[in-house]
Amino acid sequence: MDSIVVTGGGPLNGEIPIAGAKNACLTLMPATLLSEEPLTLTNAPRLSDIKTMTTLLQSLGAEVTSMQDGQVLAMSSHNIHNHTADYDIVRKMRASILVLGPMLARDGHAIVSLPGGCAIGARPVDLHLKALEAMGAELELKDGYVHAKAMQGLKGGVIDFDFASVGATENALMAATLAKGTTVINNAAREPEIVDLADCLRRMGAQIEGDGTPSITIQGVDRLNGATHPVVTDRIELGTYMLAPAIAGGEVELIGGRINLLSAFCEKLDAAGISVEETQRGLKVSRKNGRVNAVNVVTEPFPGFPTDLQAQMMALLCTAEGTSVLEEKIFENRFMHAPELLRMGAQIDVQGGTATVTGVDKLKGAPVMATDLRASVSLILAGLAAEGETTVSRVYHLDRGYEHVVGKLSAVGAKIERIKE
Ligand code: UD1
Repeated sequence: MDSIVVTGGGPLNGEIPIAGAKNACLTLMPATLLSEEPLTLTNAPRLSDIKTMTTLLQSLGAEVTSMQDGQVLAMSSHNIHNHTADYDIVRKMRASILVLGPMLARDGHAIVSLPGGCAIGARPVDLHLKALEAMGAELELKDGYVHAKAMQGLKGGVIDFDFASVGATENALMAATLAKGTTVINNAAREPEIVDLADCLRRMGAQIEGDGTPSITIQGVDRLNGATHPVVTDRIELGTYMLAPAIAGGEVELIGGRINLLSAFCEKLDAAGISVEETQRGLKVSRKNGRVNAVNVVTEPFPGFPTDLQAQMMALLCTAEGTSVLEEKIFENRFMHAPELLRMGAQIDVQGGTATVTGVDKLKGAPVMATDLRASVSLILAGLAAEGETTVSRVYHLDRGYEHVVGKLSAVGAKIERIKE
């Protein structure tokens, strides 16, 4: 298994291009199943999760062609011959459940394995199923698979989510585009990836209003057409690389970045003493002066502080002046990076969903282990400022969500290399 070796030290200077969003692409790809005409995505990120979704769609009969070094995905679902999403593929990635709504809406039946994904909590799919039932689907759970039927087609309905789940909102939104009549999704997730999906579906001829607010209304149509759609910027990759100069010093411009993708995160950076300046091409980030201040963080659904940046923010706060409290409200088991950061000399006390971080002057390089996608990049960030060498093992997690991480960070002066095994 490959590992990444980071030698901490100097400041970082230069620019980093930000890719299209993994989480947007993973919901835009299954949207191909809604139409017999081609759907082409541009600005796609080059990631192993995208390859997994490609394999899943191909197993159903969709054609997926990766062009321009993976940045363009040309898809066509005119010949869906298999309606079963197999456990062997689905277990690798939780987002696989997103094929359920589109297949059911288009053909009236689908069988999808219950998903796996990052080990950051129980992560059930009850809200996805509840939404589809509200549209008239008949569901049965058998041998680890969801068997879904709507032989007369899905019908518009009112969906009231108890929690603004991103994935459940996406599944419901896609399914509702082809349901008969009007569907209203209340307490819908408001993430930019939902708005991007709605934009793509509108390009395909769907009638959707209210995306980006807690109530989305969809007027079902008989069929959707093909379209070409650019994937929105990856706000989590953006936030991750914004933290690199915040942790290591220097000034880095993130090309394609926008503050409105990450307002709550940018407010916390400001309070921590990090300057974020909008430029014509993106965002320029540097430390205002000296040491970073401690700040308290609570993760929340968008527009709150993203759970997907909690681990990386913790890496910054490990060397802040004072004590920070991080509360994780989205996933129940998302502090697996804390014991690894302790190995690097951090002072962190985890009690349930709360981590108290007391800043130390310096972290020290150590061998550490990546436990999930965002945890793995937080260890790389911590390594950028640590004294000596940090070796992060099990980096396959990283490949799920960060393209060319070594290339992007070395381009701004980081000492980082991948050791192949
Ligand atoms: C998406 C993102 C993930 C991010 C998360 C929260 C993708 C591919 N992944 O995941 O990176 O961390 O949003 O911003 O877009 N829940 C239920 N029942 C359900 C669905 C969810 O209880 O049916 C719970 C989950 O266990 C979790 C919380 O709701 O505790 C948030 O999950 P959700 O918003 O659905 O996240 P995902 O769509 O899985």
